[in-house]
Amino acid sequence: MTEFEPVIDVHLIPDDAKRSLQRDARVGLTSEPKWLQPKWFYDARGSDLFEQITRLPEYYPTRAESSILQAHAADIARRTGAHALVELGSGSSEKTRLLLDALAQSGSLNQYVPVDVSETALREAVAAIHEDYPRLAIHGVVADFTQHLDRVPGQRPRLIAFLGGTIGNFLPDERAVFLGQLRDTVLAGEWVLLGTDLVKDPDVLVAAYDDSAGVTADFNRNILAVLNRELDADFDLENYEHVAIWDCENEWIEMRLRAVAAAKVTLSELALDVVMQSGEQIRTEISAKFRQEGVEAELAKAGFDMDSWWTDPKGRFALSLARAR
Ligand code: SAH
Ligand code: AVI
Repeated sequence: MTEFEPVIDVHLIPDDAKRSLQRDARVGLTSEPKWLQPKWFYDARGSDLFEQITRLPEYYPTRAESSILQAHAADIARRTGAHALVELGSGSSEKTRLLLDALAQSGSLNQYVPVDVSETALREAVAAIHEDYPRLAIHGVVADFTQHLDRVPGQRPRLIAFLGGTIGNFLPDERAVFLGQLRDTVLAGEWVLLGTDLVKDPDVLVAAYDDSAGVTADFNRNILAVLNRELDADFDLENYEHVAIWDCENEWIEMRLRAVAAAKVTLSELALDVVMQSGEQIRTEISAKFRQEGVEAELAKAGFDMDSWWTDPKGRFALSLARAR
């Protein structure tokens, strides 16, 4: 029987990634209020901390989404008949196994294409999936899904999975651009499986982003460690408190880092000094929460028709299966 050696394409050239981090840090830290792009959380330690978050008692999204996949992966396989499963922001690819099993069982699956900006997370995931699915062709892609969607391979028809609620980490405008770009890269009839966290009791939401063990706080501060290492900056991580608030108007959780004391931070690679006032905050992430009408409307606007909408029994999280028009 044939065993396929995994292939990994790297589209994130170190110099480009560095330039992009330099640009984002300069723009974000000289803005008022200050902000950083959440994709910079995910170096090896950030990816590892995210995996720890998924196992926290307060962080329900991963377990809720897994329960939906357990209940409906066979439906998804039957409805799509996908030959390739492409996964954007695949991380550890753990939950993906439920989809791989169902698609393999239905006999349609030939190829798995995980795509992630974190090279270490992607390489580890590819090795783990190859170990357990030795006859599945795996084509990993280290890329930024906001820039390189047109370079993502996959035997058609493809099912493009975007799980975990990562779409909620875009601002609304960015989300519309992303969905439009995604529609431009798929053919009519191809499928998208989208995970979205849902609007719920703010106490439950805030606890999920401000856990009692402090893992999310470490994940949040890790973005400063990335700037220290990559841009030769001198953020004192102990000077920054983790903040997670529910913004009820925008219906998103916002994570910030609050400077406990005033500080002057030097980013030597940028020849940039940033002054932090005492109590000043840097926004590091939004995590938007959704309602069914909103998801359906955003998908429709981008050119996808909703085929199925499933939630977990407690109605905390949803998976949408949609088809390109
Ligand atoms: N899908 C997994 C992981 C979610 S964490 C799950 O549901 O558990 C978000 C993942 O998206 C991380 O692995 C991170 O490295 C990746 N990611 C974040 N921004 C990205 C970008 N712009 N391009 C590609 N991957 C990105
Ligand atoms: C990856 N993303 C969907 C996570 C979220 O819930 O927004 C990242 C995260 N941030 C804090 N905890 C988890």
